[in-house]
This record gives sequence, C-alpha cells and structure tokens, in this order.
Amino acid sequence: MKTNIAILGCGRISKNHIIAIANNFEDSKLVALCDLDISKVESRKTEYKSLLEKQTDTICINTYISYKKMVEENDIDIIAISTESGYHYEQSIFMLNNNINVLVEKPMALKEEHALEMIELASTKNLNLGVCFQNRFNPPIQLLRKQIDNGKFGRIYAITANIYWNRGKGYYEQAPWRGTHALDGGALMNQCIHNIDLLQWMSDSIPNELNAMLSNFNHNYLEVEDYGSIQIRFENGIIGNIEGSVALYPKNYKETLVVIGEKGTVEIGGLAVNKILHWVFEDNSISVEDAINLTKSEINNVYGNGHTPLYKDFIEAVREKKEPYISGLEGFKALKIILDSYKKSGVNYDKYR
Ligand SMILES: NC(=O)c1ccc[n+]([C@@H]2O[C@H](COP(=O)([O-])OP(=O)(O)OC[C@H]3O[C@@H](n4cnc5c(N)ncnc54)[C@H](O)[C@@H]3O)[C@@H](O)[C@H]2O)c1
Repeated sequence: MKTNIAILGCGRISKNHIIAIANNFEDSKLVALCDLDISKVESRKTEYKSLLEKQTDTICINTYISYKKMVEENDIDIIAISTESGYHYEQSIFMLNNNINVLVEKPMALKEEHALEMIELASTKNLNLGVCFQNRFNPPIQLLRKQIDNGKFGRIYAITANIYWNRGKGYYEQAPWRGTHALDGGALMNQCIHNIDLLQWMSDSIPNELNAMLSNFNHNYLEVEDYGSIQIRFENGIIGNIEGSVALYPKNYKETLVVIGEKGTVEIGGLAVNKILHWVFEDNSISVEDAINLTKSEINNVYGNGHTPLYKDFIEAVREKKEPYISGLEGFKALKIILDSYKKSGVNYDKYR
C-alpha cells in the first residue's frame, strides 16, 4: 500500500516537494493539493503528472482552496505544509488533531511555545512530525557527519557557519509576507536557519552561553534583521560562530560550514553547502580526492536535492512508526538558537539604521 501525501501551500518551495514525492513514487502517491491560489495548485498538479508520465496514466489528484475541505474529503497519511512560516503552527495543530502526520517546512513555527506544543501534540497522538532541513542529506554533509561519528576530528574546537547572501527589494516585493515579524522573521529565521541547524547538529550539544548582535543595515523597508552575528558556547565546550546576512554587496557570495578539530579541518560550501572546499585529517583513510568524488552532485537551485531523501526517510518513519531523521525536536533546536538571538539583541533596529 502506498502512503498518501497531500501538500498545503503550492508556492515556490512546493516545486521541490513535487519532485521529491514523484521520486518516491514506489512508496507514495500525491492525492491532494491545496492553495488559496488555484492556478498554483493546477501548476503543481501538471508538474507532478508530467514527472510521472511514464510510470502511470491513472494519477488522480484532488485540488482545493480550503485545507479543511481537503482533509474532510481525502484519506491523507502525510501532509506537507509549505505555507508562509507564520501559518505553520496553526495548520500543523489542525492536521495533527485530524490524525495526519506532518512534514512542515522550516522554520517549523515562529514562537517557542508553538513549536513545543506541536512536538507535544504529535507525541500524544503517536504521529510523526518532521521538519524540512533537507541540507542535512547533502552528500558532503552526510560524509562530514560520519567523520564526526567516527571520532576523526578528535576534540572539536569550533564550528563556523557563514551565510553571505543578497536579497533585494524585488525579492521582498514578490511576496508581502517576507520580512515581516508575523509571518517570516529576518535573515536568521528565513535564510540562515539551514546552516544554523547544520552547525548545531554537528556540535552534538546544546548552547550553554549565547550572544547575539543583529542589525538592519540596508533594508529599511523591512521590520526585521538583514544581518546577524551569533556566538555560542555549547555545553560540550565547542564554540559556534554564526555570521549571516542578506545584505551582501552586490549579490550572493557564499554559504559555508567550517569544522575545526584537534585532528581535522573541513570546509563545506557551494550553492547549498553541497561541495567540499577543504578536507584534511590526521587519519587520511578518506583523502580529499576521495571525499570530493564520493560526494559530487549537481544541483539546480539553492534548495538543493535534499527533499527527495528527506521524503524517503519520512515516509519510512510513518510506515514503520519510528522517529524520522529530522523530528520536531530536532527541528526545534535551530529555531531556539534564533529565538534566543532575537531575545538577546532585541528586535527594534530603528536606532541603528
Ligand atoms: N526548505 C527550504 O529550503 C525552503 C526554501 C524556501 C522556502 N521555504 C519555506 O517554505 C515556506 C513557503 O515558502 P515559499 O517561498 O514557497 O512561499 P510562497 O509565498 O511562494 O508560497 C506559500 C503559499 O502558501 C499559500 N497559502 C497560505 N495560506 C494558505 C491557506 N490557508 N490555504 C492554502 N494555501 C495557503 C499561499 O497562497 C502561497 O501560494 C516558508 O515557511 C519558507 O520558509 C523553505
């Protein structure tokens, strides 16, 4: 039996969900799509069908503008929520209360108490809650994680995440929810959260001390930060450094993750932290050439290819009633770092403009 999947929110990122669901066709099927804008629903439906043209001609996808109606009329095992971030909480709670497993886009919610309520409800209902931190599945990131698991760094001293991007007025004008406190958050919450998640995941620890300075340097039409600098001392002693911005002149520069250890140093970069830039270990059992060859992959956009393995894992978790690779609790950790940074630095940037 295939796992029935539906998507709520058919905007930009939902295209990656469509590809991922089509790539997992053996185990799942897309049964319904919902968006307030029916033209987006129709586009996603067409894309899914064209991706699976060769496999079947009996695909039936129901389309909706009301998610409540979609839930009433379909037997849904997994709902993918890819609406604006500020709606994730309310919609996830609704889905969990209707006994549907939830795979929610990042950030899982915008408030700590909301995220914790989602985690608690999923656990009470014995349902899965997963968060889309797809970059964890990037081959270089997986290989790096393996080196950490196998103790190849010795003691890890520090991990640094840099996100040097550019988002101009045109980007924010495309969708009015972007750059608002209520529905989005700033550069840390929207653009940097993936790399913050990778940094905290590699640390295997939780923050003990956190300092943050945020600013809005050249987006005076936004309520939120366009630059953030965070320093963390984790409980296990690792120091985390995060510098993220959407104010890079004149265009996207880079996104990198650097791990500095007693017996190894690694830097991963590329369009979506998908390329090994530096790789050196005392134990040279995986040489830099091997590491690069093992993890080569082509990507077409900054979102990478991670949604496909993420779906594979989540479908399996739902079928086998086990924890997904990136559970609600896992998804919460990066959110907590960002919310703590907001608390530390304050969110009124007017005096620094
Ligand atoms: N994982 C990633 O790399 C990644 C990348 C981009 C965006 N995202 C996240 O995905 C989410 C969506 O981002 P986007 O860029 O696709 O946004 P978008 O504005 O392109 O799409 C959001 C869609 O949700 C729809 N929607 C909102 N409320 C609805 C409702 N009640 N019923 C039905 N449809 C509704 C809107 O009409 C819109 O089409 C955000 O949380 C964002 O942070 C994740």
